[in-house]
Amino acid sequence: MFPKIKSQFMLDPKIIHLNHGSFGATPKPIFNSLVNWQKKLELNPSKHIYDTFDFLKESRSSLASYINCDKDDVVFTPNPSTALNTIIKSLDLNSGDEVLSTNHEYETLDRTWKYISKNTGSKYIQVPISLPLKSENDFIECFLKKITSNTKIIFLSQITSSTGLIFPIEKICKIAKEKNILSIIDGAHVPGHIDLDIKKLNPDVYTGACHKWMCSPKGTAFLYVHKKLQNTVKPLVISWGYDSDMPSHSQFLDYLQWYGTDDISAYLTMSDTIRFLEKNNWENVSKQCKKLNLWARNEINKLLKKEPISDERFLGQMSSIPIKSNDILADQTEFYSKYSIQIPIFKWNDKEFFRISIQAYNTKEDIFRLLEALDDKYN
Ligand SMILES: Cc1ncc(COP(=O)(O)O)c(C=O)c1O
Repeated sequence: MFPKIKSQFMLDPKIIHLNHGSFGATPKPIFNSLVNWQKKLELNPSKHIYDTFDFLKESRSSLASYINCDKDDVVFTPNPSTALNTIIKSLDLNSGDEVLSTNHEYETLDRTWKYISKNTGSKYIQVPISLPLKSENDFIECFLKKITSNTKIIFLSQITSSTGLIFPIEKICKIAKEKNILSIIDGAHVPGHIDLDIKKLNPDVYTGACHKWMCSPKGTAFLYVHKKLQNTVKPLVISWGYDSDMPSHSQFLDYLQWYGTDDISAYLTMSDTIRFLEKNNWENVSKQCKKLNLWARNEINKLLKKEPISDERFLGQMSSIPIKSNDILADQTEFYSKYSIQIPIFKWNDKEFFRISIQAYNTKEDIFRLLEALDDKYN
């Protein structure tokens, strides 16, 4: 679709890559930025340890203008799990308190909430959002019905992992504010995929992965926390920023920016990452990828005689399609080894699905190859 952009990715051309949503992929200019930062830091490691916070500040500024928030309200984390574990383990949850969520959340976060529920006596409630999802109102009504006087937290993905659906988060965050309920949003798939404007959305907590749809190097994610809550956040790892000898203006930054010696170079590529996206008119790239995704989903559903799991308005660059599988791992491996196609196959609510992701490097040809493989395997 975008041959010039495709040529900048380092992906193995023998493989059809339809799994950008899981681990992203990094084009050469961003990868070179990572290597350049590593080289720069390596010139004088002892000095650069002291420059870390200035470098991070610059990177936070770039990210903050991209997602529209204050640079001091956001910290880098290696992944959304670290960001959300930090928050979930900081919460003051008591017996009977309820965390309201859905049955579409990323499973490791379900596990984190269940871990916390076990330790605090709070309840993690997963509202079933049934498929096909046809209207925003259906979602909102179904979800809000489960709010009780014990609901303390709303936890939702803005784009779901297994089902690839865009949930109407802006409306939910607004309702949460009105009802004095904390909103914690898992936006792992959002930055670089659909528009993200933190000030407009106004969540209490938001995490996003930059290494997915922004194509940053692996291990680049962020945690945003609303100013009014920052002093309630506890560090996941106690280090120099706790009880600091030289506290800065922000306990939030002191606690979360230094978890011991680490390679921060991936975080420092943020300005170069955003420059790459802007130079390549990423808004248009996403728009064209979405078009290809909708066409692909339609063709796949037709071939496999399946009903779409949602209306098109809930989709971005990913689609999930139900499939029969007695062994999801064996089937996923077969797609790779027999057809050279990378697609994830997983279980969601006791049913099997596969998911396609469309990025700038994908073409209609990739989808034709997938259709051939699906036809061969299932028809
Ligand atoms: C919606 C969602 N949330 C959270 C995560 C967690 O990401 P990680 O395992 O990198 O922390 C993922 C991973 O793909 C995801 O899709």
